[in-house]
Amino acid sequence: MVKQDDFGVEQFMDKYETNITNNMGETCSESISISQLIDLIYDNNDAVDVTHKDAQRTKIIDAVLNSKLTYGHIRGSPELKSAISVLYNQDSPLVPITEENIVITNGAIGGNFLTFYSIVNPNDKIIVVSPTYQQLSSVPGVFSQSQDNIIPFKLDFDQGFLPDLDLLQQLIKKHFPKLLVINNPNNPTGVVWKDEIIREIVSICQEKDIWIMCDEVYRPLYHSIEEKDKPKSIVNYGYNKTISTGSASKAFSLAGLRIGWIVTRNNALINDLFSKRDYNTISISMIDDILATFALQNYKIILRRNFELCLNNLEELEKFIINSDGLFSWVKPNGGTTCFIKINIKNVDTFKLCSDLAEHGTLCVPGEVFDNNQGFVRIGFGNSGTDIVNGISQLDKWVRKLPTQEPN
Ligand SMILES: Cc1ncc(COP(=O)(O)O)c(C=O)c1O
Repeated sequence: MVKQDDFGVEQFMDKYETNITNNMGETCSESISISQLIDLIYDNNDAVDVTHKDAQRTKIIDAVLNSKLTYGHIRGSPELKSAISVLYNQDSPLVPITEENIVITNGAIGGNFLTFYSIVNPNDKIIVVSPTYQQLSSVPGVFSQSQDNIIPFKLDFDQGFLPDLDLLQQLIKKHFPKLLVINNPNNPTGVVWKDEIIREIVSICQEKDIWIMCDEVYRPLYHSIEEKDKPKSIVNYGYNKTISTGSASKAFSLAGLRIGWIVTRNNALINDLFSKRDYNTISISMIDDILATFALQNYKIILRRNFELCLNNLEELEKFIINSDGLFSWVKPNGGTTCFIKINIKNVDTFKLCSDLAEHGTLCVPGEVFDNNQGFVRIGFGNSGTDIVNGISQLDKWVRKLPTQEPN
């Protein structure tokens, strides 16, 4: 049997998520129903005449209800792929992304898995940013046949969770990795690595012929970053050994559709991904395909709603940090839906704290499940305002009740 560590963050969320009042564990922008999706889009779409809105709604509902449930387009419908390509061509690359560059998967989690399954061979060394979503280090560890082959590229709170590129070069020199795995915007920190940083990373890897995979599942939730600093997708920096993964879950509030994708300009990899995918996917759900196409064709409307949600919740979080008199500190996130809050108490057992809080109705995730970052808690701020405001007040109450308050 394949040996693999338990997936800490998913197990923690699974254990508590269904009995929670204040959900700050959630990392999706507040999810919506199909009915809300249709209303959101038609109520905000100036291109659709008021008198035609009902007819448009009926068209979508009919498509869902009346489509014969075959396997559908094995590789994903051309309409879906075209809508996804638009998300990448917003970067205005010299050569646009086309449907040929896209592989449709079951969520970004499926895209990440398929990428590692295709790229990582036994004994390959892989550098993986840390902290990040555990899948990104654990799965390549399985395919390379030892977790010792996974080299963490550590980010530091005191450096604003930005990468130390000298350190990256040292790691490359020492380990000769096949692949660098990053996550931008990052889960759990919510920090976006800006355009100039990504440009440098690409140049470092290109010089050494190293693949770069960037989990971009929180793209394009760049709600707090200047236009000039916004990074492009990793596939739009002119280097062909780059891979982006993404999905409809986080920025577009549709995790229940389980639609994700891999984008790469590398034709050999595309062929390999599809040939591996035949063994574990066949096709994604036709219904998901129809609804995701509709949503992504109107993605700007969904994104506008989610920017507002994130920015309002961030304002509350910022007040909370400022008023905590140094008990809590953070690197204010500039993208995504998560932040990694530091509790400034010596040796604070954040796993126990988060477990106790969860037993009492408030969910946030302990730093221990992100490469053992004890002393931090991850807060998802894309959920409803009530969850966040009540959740942080509970967090504050529980932290102030801890037996020791000795600062670290
Ligand atoms: C960084 C990252 N990648 C991938 C995923 C998986 O997302 P999904 O499969 O819903 O697209 C998550 C979910 O939390 C995530 O945080």
